[in-house]
Amino acid sequence: MASMCGIVGAVSTRNIVPILIEGLKRLEYRGYDSCGVAVHQNGELRRARSTARVAELEAEVARDAVQSGTGIAHTRWATHGAPALHNAHPHFSRGPGVSDAAVAVSGSAQAGRIALVHNGIIENHDELRAELTARGYVFSSQTDTEVIAHLVDQLYDGDLFDAVQRTVVRLRGAFAIAVFCRDEPQRVVGAREGSPLVLGVGRGERAGETFLASDAMALAGVTDQIVYLEEGDVVDLQLGKHWISHRDTHGRYQAVQRELRTVIAHSGAAELGPYRHYMQKEIFEQPKAIADTLDAVPGVTPELFGDGAHRVFKEVDSVLILACGTSYYAGSVAKYWLESIAKIPTSVEVASEYRYRDSVPNPRTLVVAITQSGETADTLAALKHARGLGMPHTLTICNVATSAMVRECRFATITRAGVEIGVASTKAFSTQLVGLFLLTLALAQTRGFLTDAQEAGHLTALRHLPLAVQGVLALEPQVIAWSQEFARKENALFLGRGLHYPIALEGALKLKEISYIHAEAYPAGELKHGPLALVTAEMPVVTIAPNDALLEKLKSNLQEVRARGGELFVFADADTRIVSGEGLHVIRMPEHYGALSPILHVVPLQLLAYHTACARGTDVDKPRNLAKSVTVE
Ligand code: M6R
Repeated sequence: MASMCGIVGAVSTRNIVPILIEGLKRLEYRGYDSCGVAVHQNGELRRARSTARVAELEAEVARDAVQSGTGIAHTRWATHGAPALHNAHPHFSRGPGVSDAAVAVSGSAQAGRIALVHNGIIENHDELRAELTARGYVFSSQTDTEVIAHLVDQLYDGDLFDAVQRTVVRLRGAFAIAVFCRDEPQRVVGAREGSPLVLGVGRGERAGETFLASDAMALAGVTDQIVYLEEGDVVDLQLGKHWISHRDTHGRYQAVQRELRTVIAHSGAAELGPYRHYMQKEIFEQPKAIADTLDAVPGVTPELFGDGAHRVFKEVDSVLILACGTSYYAGSVAKYWLESIAKIPTSVEVASEYRYRDSVPNPRTLVVAITQSGETADTLAALKHARGLGMPHTLTICNVATSAMVRECRFATITRAGVEIGVASTKAFSTQLVGLFLLTLALAQTRGFLTDAQEAGHLTALRHLPLAVQGVLALEPQVIAWSQEFARKENALFLGRGLHYPIALEGALKLKEISYIHAEAYPAGELKHGPLALVTAEMPVVTIAPNDALLEKLKSNLQEVRARGGELFVFADADTRIVSGEGLHVIRMPEHYGALSPILHVVPLQLLAYHTACARGTDVDKPRNLAKSVTVE
């Protein structure tokens, strides 16, 4: 099984191996644990695979003079089947009775009739494996992917496009595939069902070239002419032409035309500049990301989210937020804003749970999907589930304008964080909060809960935010000093209250994600209901202390920790009168920033996680077991 993988494919008259390798490098940010490339060379299929980085694969294909005008490449993020060479893609089928195992152990190998790469999960792979084994196919990996390669081989009758169309109707689950055949040297076929896949078409002097990729970014600099394939599409790539057919719900295919768009995709391999890691760079880009997101906003109006939003905002009587991970925490902050400022009942659901539970649909709900990538499978499925239950009003806050989520939703606002490469989300989070705050103001305005003076006050605070975040970033040296101590710990508790409880959750997620320190977050009032039992001198307790209505209550919670010998690390607003003392370390934040305070308080928590991870020597941008874009369930 292969999951948040990256796919690149090409058909050209020039050697496309450098394009395939460059494409893989641009998809590296998604996270992977093995990679591979297969090409058509001298009438044979050739393959190179590696469990090291793409750079290693690049050296290997250069050394072995792997080159061709037709090929496919892949980065694999293992779920089922260890991240080992024999599980790495591309997978070959060499027909019944012939094992791929002999060649699987060597990095580069000839032989094979079908070569295939896959992103997604084939749910009925056991059943297909049994069927293909009975027909004499010999499996050499633990992946579900290999069944697709053998199935294409079994159904192949001289026309790869036809074989792939007949193959995909047999598959259950989510997938994007790219496949080619030894007997058709200048052809690659792709198919999409639930996992992203785009077609790229060369232009100008490269007019004859055709490409496939998981993401337009993989083709940046190669072509900007992109077709976003839709679920059920099968695409035939040949020299100078392409052909798309679409499968209907009865499994019948029909030729379709899809819009060719000009997409200015930026390469993921952005310069690091003076930073050690992309995560650090992205933390420091937050003032600009927020300013860019606000630049597109002349003032508060529902139309910021699309034409017709005013009518829908008037009609809705509740909000349902669907998201995962960090985006879920952004939604959790927004619940406080939506209920207190726009006075609209709001629920926030973890997308992977919502899609499978019985819930009570309300057609007058505004369904808000929050996602950085716009490709998160759980969030997309939850959105479709909500719509299927009869909730037609959908809106997304998303960082990728061309993503599946933006195409799925009726309304959208695009955050302008720019490409986020670090697996740990930072600037996407703060810009999501900005988008959600604007949504709150637009709903409040439509519902008559926002005076002109209040609107002007909120807009002034928003516009000052980049400068305020800049001020918080200046605290980095103090956070670095704390991180040295954190690096020696194995556990940490994070406390917050109200609006800042989701920020405590986000701080704990950041710390565990990249430093591998076990961290939990609690609303501070919950301490005495259980977690206080964990507090000893060995347990650092990170606390967010804004000068808001709950400050005095929070101070009492801090006393409870100190009384048990716990060591407190407090990010306290300037006017809270919380001062450093024995077992109490304080980093002074600026003046309280009102409703927007969470956007400031998350920044030192990001820095704390980052510097702690650096001190522990982890792979900060690509933490173990995680991927950037979670495109399967
Ligand atoms: O692209 P999305 O915002 O939909 O991704 C959701 C989560 O997978 C993501 O926020 C994840 O939790 C991050 N790695 C957190 O840093």
